[in-house]
Amino acid sequence: MRDEFRYWLPFLTKDVPAELTSPVDVARFELAQALPVVAADMKVELQPDGTASEFFTVRSEGDTVTISGGDVGVLYGVYRVLMALYCGEKLPSDQTQQPKYALRMVNCWDNADGDIERGYSGRSLFFDDGMFDYEPERLRMMARMMASVGLNVACINNVNVRNPAHRLIEDWLPELAEVAAIFRPFGVKLMVSIDYSQPMRHGVPTADPLDERVQNWWNEQCKLVYAAVPDLVGFLVKADSEHRPGPFTYGRNHAEGANMLARALKPHGGKLIWRCFVYNCQQDWRDQKTDRPAAAYNHYVYLDGQFEDNVILQVKNGPFDFQVREPLSPMLLAMPKTSLAIEWQLAQEYTGHQIDIYAMMGMWQEVMADLGSDTIMAMAAVSNWGDDACVYGHPFAAVNMFGYGLLCWNPDAADPEAIARTWAKLTYNFSKADEDTLVDILLESRCAYEKYTSPLGLCWMVTPHVHYGASPDGYEYTAWGTYHRASRDAVGIDRTSSGTGYADQYPAALRDRYSNLETCPDELKLWFHRLRYDYVMADGRTLIQRIYDDHFEGYDWVVAAEEKLAVLPFPEADKALIMERMSRQKKNAREWCDIVNSFFYRFSGVEDAKGRPLYI
Ligand code: GCU
Repeated sequence: MRDEFRYWLPFLTKDVPAELTSPVDVARFELAQALPVVAADMKVELQPDGTASEFFTVRSEGDTVTISGGDVGVLYGVYRVLMALYCGEKLPSDQTQQPKYALRMVNCWDNADGDIERGYSGRSLFFDDGMFDYEPERLRMMARMMASVGLNVACINNVNVRNPAHRLIEDWLPELAEVAAIFRPFGVKLMVSIDYSQPMRHGVPTADPLDERVQNWWNEQCKLVYAAVPDLVGFLVKADSEHRPGPFTYGRNHAEGANMLARALKPHGGKLIWRCFVYNCQQDWRDQKTDRPAAAYNHYVYLDGQFEDNVILQVKNGPFDFQVREPLSPMLLAMPKTSLAIEWQLAQEYTGHQIDIYAMMGMWQEVMADLGSDTIMAMAAVSNWGDDACVYGHPFAAVNMFGYGLLCWNPDAADPEAIARTWAKLTYNFSKADEDTLVDILLESRCAYEKYTSPLGLCWMVTPHVHYGASPDGYEYTAWGTYHRASRDAVGIDRTSSGTGYADQYPAALRDRYSNLETCPDELKLWFHRLRYDYVMADGRTLIQRIYDDHFEGYDWVVAAEEKLAVLPFPEADKALIMERMSRQKKNAREWCDIVNSFFYRFSGVEDAKGRPLYI
């Protein structure tokens, strides 16, 4: 087995043979190889019920364990039991588990040329050079990692569908069917991103969703697609977003646009996953009225109740774009009659490119606390995989895929510390003291990153397009709608009712929490408010001092983390990679800290109360 895939499944040493075609066969195979390693005296019996159900029941008495459930459920149960035994946990005497959401999706942003959009761990595992190109064992391993944490849908191509990726649902259908067959024994089904204007490649003169020729084209195409891959989950669509084609071109709204595709998919049991990342990416920075975070709500909320029942709106967790900290996207709380999925980004686009350590569990917990797990019916996450020797780029980035699976399975039980600890134990099996060190680093990593980068909810001070490294004015005078508006005296945008009014998109409790300076969390103060540098924060420090302190503290955390990691007993290959990434993180943190502090020093002229260096 390839070593690079061993994260959190240390008890598996053999590849799953290609001949195994059902989840139950895979379950028996995994059990046979792992049980002698994790609990040699234990007897585990499998009782699959022959259905495709995902629930499982674990019963244990003495040395005997029974795992019953649906065929896929039994496979999930086997992985859970093996992990629990490896971690030395006591098995429940009788416990049934079933996933909270039916769709637990991983969105790969892989392009047909083999590049991965926002990929930080190598190239595509599916495509190269304008065609399908994959190693079946690697895909099987990917499917196995997904199944081990209950993930069940893989969208294999980028939401930005560029030529020739549209061929996936055309002449590449035989290969798509082969890939689907590789994933199927692991309970993982495929989904594909489509190009909204695809009929226009085939002589249809328009992509207007209300035009019969367009509808016919999609109806016929869906028949071909489902003949090749009968269990395809459906299509993922990015329309009218960042220059992608969509219904707006024809004066149609997004219910009209989505419903047309949904109707073509419906006879085959397919779903239409419609992304809501729609905003004006050609804004004039001088325009103080247009407020990008308000856009999605304005485009969609009035359409609540108008979508076909197989449409799911997929909404990014925050209203901007996967920033280090954002409040919950308000449209997620405003469409009770529509099926909603939340979209996370495991790929660390704005959060350190899998060079800097950034464990996401704390963010998920915060967002889910405001959202409530029943408000949505599915989860998706942009994947952080690639073909690097370490498929996660940074070994610690694996915790985000692992944790994401557990989050989708049961968000109400996805405790950040439990996730970090289980992952650390499975991956490294350190002594308790070393495990504590690692777990603390993981749990603190997000706030540390937040501190040395853009302050207190401002976001976006990144190097444009690349999105790694500090550039306080990088997006300030651009068309992307992402401004901090720092001046000599103040910084931030008033998004309350006295400003852009964005905060009014929330239900009263959240609106009041964010609008009121006293209750708005410090970390989001500059998201919702424009504040003077001499504004006194709750702890008595001025805003400018808090900005300086956070940045220096964030950097100091990195220095301390490097020292702690240097003495942990990682396997050699991981150690070299971790320390190499750590030194890059340190350099990055130093730059961020000094650039951002100096930026605000130059505007405000205020010295650091502790006399640390600021640069003119
Ligand atoms: C971000 C990201 C793009 C991506 C887009 C999306 O803007 O930078 O690369 O295409 O999100 O989610 O569609």
